[in-house]
Amino acid sequence: MALLRRILYLAVCEVIVFDVALFQEPLLCNKCNCAVKGVEFIVDCSELSLKQIPSNIPENTTCLILKDNLIENIPAYIFNGTNLWYLDISNNSIKNLQTFSLHGLDTLISLDLHSNNINMEPSNYPIGVFQTLVKLQNLDISTNKVNVGSALSYPSNSFSDLTSLQTLKIDGLPTIQMGSGFSNLTKLIFLNFTGHCITTTIRNDSFINVPGLEILVLSGCRIRSIASFAFTMLYKLQFLDISFNQKLGFDAATLPLFNLNSAAFRILNVSAIVETFAVGVVVTGPQILRITHLNITELYMDHNRIESFDMIVPSMVPPTVKVLSMVDNRPTFGWYLLSFKGIRGIICLYASHQYTSHVPRIGSQITNHGHQTSSLHGKCPYLTDDDNTKNAQTESPKQNEGKSHENFNHISLFYWLSKREEDRANFVITLPENIQYINISHSKLGYPIPRMKFAENKLKTLDLSTNILNKWHGPVLGGENLEWLSLTNNYCDEIYFDFFRGMTNLHTLHIGSNFLAFDFEVDVNGSIFQPLGKLNTLDISDNKITVLPRKFLKAQTKLKHLDLSNNKMKKWTLDVDNMHDLEFIDLSNNSLSTLPSSLRWFGDKQHGRGNDLTINMLGQTLQCTCENIRFLKWMKTNTTQFVRRNEYMCEDIHGKRISLDNLEQVVLNLEKQCTSWTVMVVVLTNSLLVLLIVAVVGLLYRFRWKLRYFYYLTRSKYRRYMAVSGSVENSFEFNAFVSYADEDRQIVVTDMIEKLERQHGMQLCIHHRDFLVGEVIAANITNAVRNSKKTLILLTKNFLKSYWCIYELNMALMESISTGRNVVIVIIYEHIPVKDLPHELVQLMRNDSYVEYTDDPEGNIVFWESLTKAIKAD
Ligand SMILES: *[C@@H]1O[C@H](CO)[C@@H](O)[C@H](O)[C@H]1NC(C)=O
Ligand SMILES: *[C@@H]1O[C@H](CO)[C@@H](O)[C@H](O)[C@H]1NC(C)=O
Ligand SMILES: *[C@@H]1O[C@H](CO)[C@@H](O)[C@H](O)[C@H]1NC(C)=O
Ligand SMILES: *[C@@H]1O[C@H](CO)[C@@H](O)[C@H](O)[C@H]1NC(C)=O
Ligand SMILES: *[C@@H]1O[C@H](CO)[C@@H](O)[C@H](O)[C@H]1NC(C)=O
Ligand SMILES: *[C@@H]1O[C@H](CO)[C@@H](O)[C@H](O)[C@H]1NC(C)=O
Ligand SMILES: *[C@@H]1O[C@H](CO)[C@@H](O)[C@H](O)[C@H]1NC(C)=O
Ligand SMILES: *[C@@H]1O[C@H](CO)[C@@H](O)[C@H](O)[C@H]1NC(C)=O
Ligand SMILES: *[C@@H]1O[C@H](CO)[C@@H](O)[C@H](O)[C@H]1NC(C)=O
Ligand SMILES: *[C@@H]1O[C@H](CO)[C@@H](O)[C@H](O)[C@H]1NC(C)=O
Repeated sequence: MALLRRILYLAVCEVIVFDVALFQEPLLCNKCNCAVKGVEFIVDCSELSLKQIPSNIPENTTCLILKDNLIENIPAYIFNGTNLWYLDISNNSIKNLQTFSLHGLDTLISLDLHSNNINMEPSNYPIGVFQTLVKLQNLDISTNKVNVGSALSYPSNSFSDLTSLQTLKIDGLPTIQMGSGFSNLTKLIFLNFTGHCITTTIRNDSFINVPGLEILVLSGCRIRSIASFAFTMLYKLQFLDISFNQKLGFDAATLPLFNLNSAAFRILNVSAIVETFAVGVVVTGPQILRITHLNITELYMDHNRIESFDMIVPSMVPPTVKVLSMVDNRPTFGWYLLSFKGIRGIICLYASHQYTSHVPRIGSQITNHGHQTSSLHGKCPYLTDDDNTKNAQTESPKQNEGKSHENFNHISLFYWLSKREEDRANFVITLPENIQYINISHSKLGYPIPRMKFAENKLKTLDLSTNILNKWHGPVLGGENLEWLSLTNNYCDEIYFDFFRGMTNLHTLHIGSNFLAFDFEVDVNGSIFQPLGKLNTLDISDNKITVLPRKFLKAQTKLKHLDLSNNKMKKWTLDVDNMHDLEFIDLSNNSLSTLPSSLRWFGDKQHGRGNDLTINMLGQTLQCTCENIRFLKWMKTNTTQFVRRNEYMCEDIHGKRISLDNLEQVVLNLEKQCTSWTVMVVVLTNSLLVLLIVAVVGLLYRFRWKLRYFYYLTRSKYRRYMAVSGSVENSFEFNAFVSYADEDRQIVVTDMIEKLERQHGMQLCIHHRDFLVGEVIAANITNAVRNSKKTLILLTKNFLKSYWCIYELNMALMESISTGRNVVIVIIYEHIPVKDLPHELVQLMRNDSYVEYTDDPEGNIVFWESLTKAIKAD
């Protein structure tokens, strides 16, 4: 309300900023704080246990603060010669004022004498005491410590001198009677009796002499009755607060309002006007009828234990009401508050804290002085200044009446809830048509949220936190205008995938403190939040989440704030790459020990975009180990900010806790520790590798013949060997393959071909004659061995020196082994010491598979005989 906001405490001097100016004022400024602030010269002598008002007040002092001392009286003329604007002597022990106590204060604008011992006896306010205070605008003489005295009325003749007074805070006498002296206070607009108010009765003539009042606060008194014409003459009244008069009741409170005729009236506060434990408060039609004519924009009816309304009440609430506050009541029928469609103008509905216990919290506050309670709600966010000041006009009610009747399916939420499940689907719930803000938090609402549909509405903010809405099935349709939703702390453990389907414009969603982990963890495609593409703040803290699917928030490209605090995450798995606006992730109180590289890259990218990411990782133990050094180093780069990083703790390999206060040092130490470790790892891996290679090479070498044999064997299966000559006995193409060194070619060409081929008709395989041109030697050898019944080894020194001869020998040996035949026949052509012979050959010769060549003519014949025999043998 404009007036409330411009309430003028013109010369409120704030306490002392010393660095503004220091100067020599030897006497008083030695003791007190002195400062210059603009044109003000402030002398602050508070809390110095002063027993007297100092006499040496500098002449140019504008503000003198003497509060919280032990001053007992104000001597006459003490302020002679001062030019004060503001004087604060509150919270002292002053018992009375003398006629000339305030003499010399003719420039004073504000005087604060609250919390002293001056009671309302006329002798304490002698006539003429305020005579010089011709400029005084604000006077506070409330909350004087002792009782207000036996006085029956205010010493009005003394007050009559305060002709400039606008604001008066004063204690409430048992019967308020603003005497005729107050009629000279033509500027008085604000009267506040809250303080030490023991008023029980307000009479017809209580305010007759202060008709210009705009604000009247009678909160926290003990009022039982207000005469029916008590407010009639207050034709300028804008704001009336009669809250916290628990003996008053709705009847007595509304009666005088019927006769209030201020066109400017806007705000009525009738909170807590019933007993703390009143039973069955029903607001009746006649009671509301008494305020229907007032153009109220804000109506406060908190703490009234209202259980029900007459059916007619909603339609009688003044159509101008934009803010309705019903905090802390006991509506019997649950959500029917929402059905107040009769209140057409309502924009904000405050209805939190229903069914709260009045013991002991609110109860104790109520029995004390009312104003110790802090308001349970802030300012209605969708109310413009216009709404407050101008006479709120709504469209003709009749027109709207027609609208809501044209479809009988439009029903109130309460009625709807009373329907059977299967019937509900046919109904559309109607909200008051202008409502934009509803707060029903802390209200013990206990329903699963079923499929439901709201008729066209303008609702933007809905707070349903701290209730027991424990299953969110939905979909809740008709929430297209909803921007802000809280379902925090609802014991919810079940959310359906299309619950949010009808809320596509939501930008803030709070669903912390529930049990949604399970439903979140299985939502691998991000279906739950799929419709919420405009979300910029998401709070899913305290939901017992251990892991989130990678794509869980894939539709949230506009997200700025993500709150995942107080969960149980051990690992960051969420993909946030598409959230280019992301600024803040709260990960405090989880069980993370590090952040993965994907998130680090994301942080760097955000930094690159000039949109630094901030992360909160308080309340968990990070890892200070070699594996995690990358993370710590990244943290150090500051591309991503960390909230209160110096308070983070981490744990090293040995479980020792280290503070990250000095991150540089931690990283440095770790680096040192890890390089030696790295070297060790490198050396170890390398030597392992070497060992492995050696082993493999060794194995290859050991089985080289076998490997080659099988290699060429396999190969020849695909390439058929073409025999040059005709067929031989059995399946072999050759009777024998002759393996010899080229130097020994002579004996083969002359003797062997002659003796064996010509004389015995054998077919020999001789490499220089029979090997296929164009085929690999090794393959030729294998084929030769395979296709010959025997292999003759012409053992000479040259043979042993020849690579290919040894190769042939080995292939032949392999053939023996693999076929089980006796393939190899060794012809000892030259004598060679056993030590020079290959191991395999010695083995073979031990088995007698050899023939010794000799030049001796007889021996020669025997040689060829036994050779032929050996070849023919199996
Ligand atoms: C007030 O007077 C004192 C001397 O009495 C002077 O030092 C000081 O500057 C004056 N302050 C102002 C704000 O004029
Ligand atoms: C009143 O002043 C005394 C010191 O004299 C101080 O301890 C006390 O806190 C003050 N009371 C208030 C309400 O400021
Ligand atoms: C205060 O001023 C008045 C006149 O203005 C004078 O009569 C009186 O003696 C002064 N008192 C002191 C204590 O200075
Ligand atoms: C009100 O003020 C007038 C003159 O301004 C004066 O004559 C009259 O006595 C005052 N009334 C009271 C009750 O003091
Ligand atoms: C009335 O006075 C009380 C006590 O000083 C204060 O708490 C309250 O805010 C005042 N009311 C208004 C509307 O200023
Ligand atoms: C207030 O005035 C009305 C009419 O003038 C009268 O009927 C009523 O009794 C008066 N009430 C009190 C408490 O004086
Ligand atoms: C409220 O406003 C209407 C329309 O401006 C006006 O007719 C009516 O008199 C006002 N109510 C009061 C009590 O002034
Ligand atoms: C209404 O009264 C209650 C109780 O005194 C108070 O907490 C609340 O702030 C008041 N509201 C307004 C708007 O003054
Ligand atoms: C709803 O009311 C509660 C309790 O008064 C308050 O804490 C909360 O901030 C309110 N919600 C909104 C959105 O204003
Ligand atoms: C990062 O920020 C910290 C604290 O704000 C600061 O001490 C440090 O020098 C910064 N490091 C870099 C690399 O900018």
